[in-house]
Amino acid sequence: MAADLACWNVADLRERARRRLPNGIWEYAERGTEDECGMARNRAAFERVAFRPRVLRGVQSVDTSTEIFGKQSAFPLALAPTGAAGLLWYKGDLALARAAAAAGVPFTISSASTMDLEQIAAAGGRIWFQLYYWEDRSLSHAVVDRARDLGCEALFITLDMPVPPNREYIHRNGFGTPFRLNARNTLDVLMHPRWLAGVMGRYALDGGVPTQANLPDRLRAKVTKGAPPGALFKQDDLDWDAISVLRDRWPGKLILKGVLHPEDAERALALGADGVVVSNHGGRALDSSIATLDALPAVAAAVGGRMTILFDSGVRRGSDVVKALAFGADAVLAGRAPLYGLAAAGEAGVSRALELLRAETARTMAMLGARSVAEIDSRLLA
Ligand SMILES: Cc1cc2nc3c(=O)[nH]c(=O)nc-3n(C[C@H](O)[C@H](O)[C@H](O)COP(=O)(O)O)c2cc1C
Repeated sequence: MAADLACWNVADLRERARRRLPNGIWEYAERGTEDECGMARNRAAFERVAFRPRVLRGVQSVDTSTEIFGKQSAFPLALAPTGAAGLLWYKGDLALARAAAAAGVPFTISSASTMDLEQIAAAGGRIWFQLYYWEDRSLSHAVVDRARDLGCEALFITLDMPVPPNREYIHRNGFGTPFRLNARNTLDVLMHPRWLAGVMGRYALDGGVPTQANLPDRLRAKVTKGAPPGALFKQDDLDWDAISVLRDRWPGKLILKGVLHPEDAERALALGADGVVVSNHGGRALDSSIATLDALPAVAAAVGGRMTILFDSGVRRGSDVVKALAFGADAVLAGRAPLYGLAAAGEAGVSRALELLRAETARTMAMLGARSVAEIDSRLLA
């Protein structure tokens, strides 16, 4: 661990990130929607769960490694796709991918990344790609083909944002798109000179403000301009037929992200998907969504053992990773936890977040008498 980064848990990294970022950028990374009940419900579900540990199991060597989609991962976690990481840190997507590769866990590139997939994949490591559909679906299919040519192992299709979420706070903080300078956001940015110089300053020297990088050049809009026709995400017309089209097009693993209903998981399996992510987008989509930990057992009962079950939304501790596995997940995705590290200290901060989560996972397993990931199951739950 970087000794100069005095952060002893994800909450410490979060606090450092909050101080470093302008409020408008911080709120984009942190906040949910409407009354933020969904975020609170995700956390409350974790906090309600307790373990019933086993003793005398000889836990001097605990193995946190596991297979995800048939390949080894250092612990049962991967980095979730998070768009606009490049606003938290200069070339943030690359910092996330490098830290993931160094930690031996997979990284998911977001469709909304501000660096293009080829640049991010150059970090090495295991790379997955997450798809949102642009209004012009051919743009999305072209990006999927690029991800395939790059050797991305898995394609995640995010389904829990059929319409844009209700982010009321952007009307107040003045960080909507297209971005327009006003007194409030100008003051906010000026009060965060380290971010202004270290992130925006470096982009300015490097050719300008970041854009949505996975679009063709002619459609890349500056954040100060609206998206040109066809280049807005549009998912309200998606149906199972669209997923079938992708299944035919994509030779690798296909995963549906944002599945909470067991019947949808069964349908995904029938259609040939390799996995689902039990996710409510970290409470950033439907505020009144069921907590993902509460949704997980029914999905696991429906399709567990027949497809890979990933899980996210609210993971902040290694004990949360173990709880999700005990409830039936094969591995978890972490969204905000690595982003806090990124905003706090770039690649070193992401590495710190991952190392903290891995160490906490190992310690929780030892406390439970689970020597391997295979030994984590529902019998350890109180
Ligand atoms: C700032 C931010 C950006 C995100 N962008 C995307 C995205 O582009 N695509 C996507 O499928 N999910 C996106 N998500 C959701 C994450 O993939 C993940 O589901 C969520 O963050 C999990 O909850 P957690 O943040 O509590 O770990 C984003 C989340 C955050 C915090």
